Amino acid sequence: MTHYIIDTEHLTRRFGDVQAVNGLDLHIPPGSIYGFLGPNGAGKTTTIRMLLGLIRPDAGRINLFGRSLSEQPLELLRRVGSLVETPSLYPHLSGWENLELIRRMVGGTSSQIQWALSIVRMEDAARRLVREYSLGMRQRLGLAVALFGQPELLILDEPTNGLDPAGIHEMRELICGLPHEGITVFLSSHLLSEVEQMATQIGIVNAGQLIFQGAPDELRARYHDHATLTTDRLGASRELLLQSGWQAAHLENHHLTVSVNGASDLALINSQLVRAGHQVYQLNLTQPTLEDIFLTLTDQQTGASV
Ligand SMILES: Nc1ncnc2c1ncn2[C@@H]1O[C@H](COP(=O)(O)OP(=O)(O)O)[C@@H](O)[C@H]1O
Ligand SMILES: [Mg+2]
Repeated sequence: MTHYIIDTEHLTRRFGDVQAVNGLDLHIPPGSIYGFLGPNGAGKTTTIRMLLGLIRPDAGRINLFGRSLSEQPLELLRRVGSLVETPSLYPHLSGWENLELIRRMVGGTSSQIQWALSIVRMEDAARRLVREYSLGMRQRLGLAVALFGQPELLILDEPTNGLDPAGIHEMRELICGLPHEGITVFLSSHLLSEVEQMATQIGIVNAGQLIFQGAPDELRARYHDHATLTTDRLGASRELLLQSGWQAAHLENHHLTVSVNGASDLALINSQLVRAGHQVYQLNLTQPTLEDIFLTLTDQQTGASV
């Protein structure tokens, strides 16, 4: 049996009439960066609060490091660092002093402070007061707080929320380096584009339910590529391709889109058209972005039409 870092079964929580989290089976492998994606209100924060033992599930179970969270909460949560929404920091103290306070509360050494500051690249700013920090620096210091004590698992709720593009880029780079420090990362986001470049596993949640879980490539593989083409007579080309068995040949503004499986299909389409005497002006392969896929998945789930 695979030993997951986080393993939930039928995790469920409601607030009054709102089914915030509904039967989640999450599997987070060791060493992964798991992107937990979903629109606002999907149930991400509620899930994270349950993973951190801050609220109780109504049903289901949570295993961390292969052991039951409800049976050994203190022992297990000692191995977890977290940053949920904005970090609580003392603005009138320096970055170093904020970490020093935590060290005095939970124990540890000043070399652990040094280590956490170096991971988030805040050594130079550590002596400045937090109230002088930019939002991005505060968020990085929040990450240093979460890293203090060298956790095996780091849980981050929307860590890039509110950051400018440079701050997002910096945060992303820091997070990508964490598996090399032996840290498994679980992070939530409502923006697929933000997670796309760092996640090794993706879970997509909508209205409390998991609608996809797997590697980013698996997600993309569920969806066909498209060929986009232009010819001298689009209507006739479309007829020809449909008769030859190609699927979903749509005529759009001055071009035709056809569902294909990779680049080799482009060569087939080209030779069929050329043999029938059509002139092919343009032929491109377009892959759906994860953003497209996400929209399709959430639409399928809710049956929503705009
Ligand atoms: N403490 C609470 N009391 C009542 N409803 C809540 C509470 N926390 C969350 N909810 C509701 O549960 C749903 C999921 O919320 P949340 O987990 O915060 O979603 P996300 O983090 O994905 O935006 C939302 O409909 C939200 O309004
Ligand atoms: Mg949230």
